[in-house]
Amino acid sequence: MGVTVGVDIGGTKIAVAVVDEDGLVVAQDRLKTPATDPTLIVDAVAESIQELKRDHAVEAVGVGAAGFVDAARRTVLFAPNIKWVDEPLADRLEALVDLPVVIENDANAAAWGEFRFGAGADVDDMLLVTVGTGIGGGIIHGGRLDRGAFGVAGEIGHLRMVPAGIRCGCGQYGCWEQYASGRALVRETRDRIRAKVDLAQPLAALVDGDVSQITGQMVTEQAQKGDPMAIDLIADVGRWLGEGIASLAAVIDPSLVAIGGGVAKAGDLLLEPARAAFLRSLSAPVFRPQAELRPASLGNDAGMIGAADLARAR
Ligand code: BGC
Ligand code: NA
Ligand code: ZN
Repeated sequence: MGVTVGVDIGGTKIAVAVVDEDGLVVAQDRLKTPATDPTLIVDAVAESIQELKRDHAVEAVGVGAAGFVDAARRTVLFAPNIKWVDEPLADRLEALVDLPVVIENDANAAAWGEFRFGAGADVDDMLLVTVGTGIGGGIIHGGRLDRGAFGVAGEIGHLRMVPAGIRCGCGQYGCWEQYASGRALVRETRDRIRAKVDLAQPLAALVDGDVSQITGQMVTEQAQKGDPMAIDLIADVGRWLGEGIASLAAVIDPSLVAIGGGVAKAGDLLLEPARAAFLRSLSAPVFRPQAELRPASLGNDAGMIGAADLARAR
C-alpha cells in the first residue's frame, strides 16, 4: 500500500506530511494556524494537501485536530483553543481534496503514532500527554486506541485540578491545562515580569518589557541557558504535570507515560520535576509498580504520523 497524508491541527501550528507505511515522513509542510476564521484553516490545509498530492500517490488523509471529535470521526464537536463548534471537518476537506478523510483528536493521533512507531513501540498500555497550547491526552489500552463511547475519551486537559480555579476555554474552572501547558507557562512568565520580580529581569529584557511578546519557546531557551527564573517557571509546569499524571495513573494504570508537545522540548528541565511530583503524588507508591515517564520520541511529528496511520487503517 502507498502513502497517506497526516495533518496535525494545533492551536498555533498546522503540520501536514506525506507518510509511508513504516511511519516515515516522505514530504512535509508547516503552516501557522489562521486564528480569525475557522474555515480558513480548512482552506489552508486543503491547499497544502493539493500541493503534496502533485508529487505523491496519496490514498487517504488523516487529520489530528485539537478538539473533541465525534465517534464517527468526521466532525469536531468543540475545540477549546480554536474557534470550532460542530465543525464538519471531514466533509469540508473531502470536498476540497477529493480523498477519503478521517478525523481524530490530535493527542489521540499522536498517541497512536508513538505507540506504533515511537516511544510506546514496546508497550501495550500507555498514556501520551501532550503539553502544548493546551494539554492533550491519548490512551492506548491493550494495544488499542481508547476513544470512549462518544469519541472523547482522554480529554485529560480538562481534569479539574483546582476547585474554582482559572477559567478554561472549555467553560469550566481549574482545568489541568490552565496550570501545566504552554499557555500557563506564558501566563506565569508574564505575571512575574509584571510583578517586577528581580529574577524575571532577564526574561523581561528579551522582549524589552513588552510581556505580550513572551512565548513558551523563549522561556525554554532561556532556561536552557541557565536562567534561574525560567528554570523555575518550567519546573512549576513540570510539578503540575506530575501531579496530574499520578491521578491519571490511578485510573488508567499505564506502564508508560510519554510526554510530548512543544513544552516537552524543555527536556529534563520539565521531566525531572514531573517525575518527582508524580512519585510524590502516586497512591501507595512503594507497593505498586510505577509507570515510567519518558519523552515522546517522535516529537512534533507524532500527531501527523499517527493520523496518517489511522487513515491507512480506516
Ligand atoms: C483539547 C483537546 C486537545 C488538547 C491538545 C485541549 O484543550 O480539549 O481536544 O487534544 O487541547 O491540543
Ligand atoms: Na485525546
Ligand atoms: Zn477545561
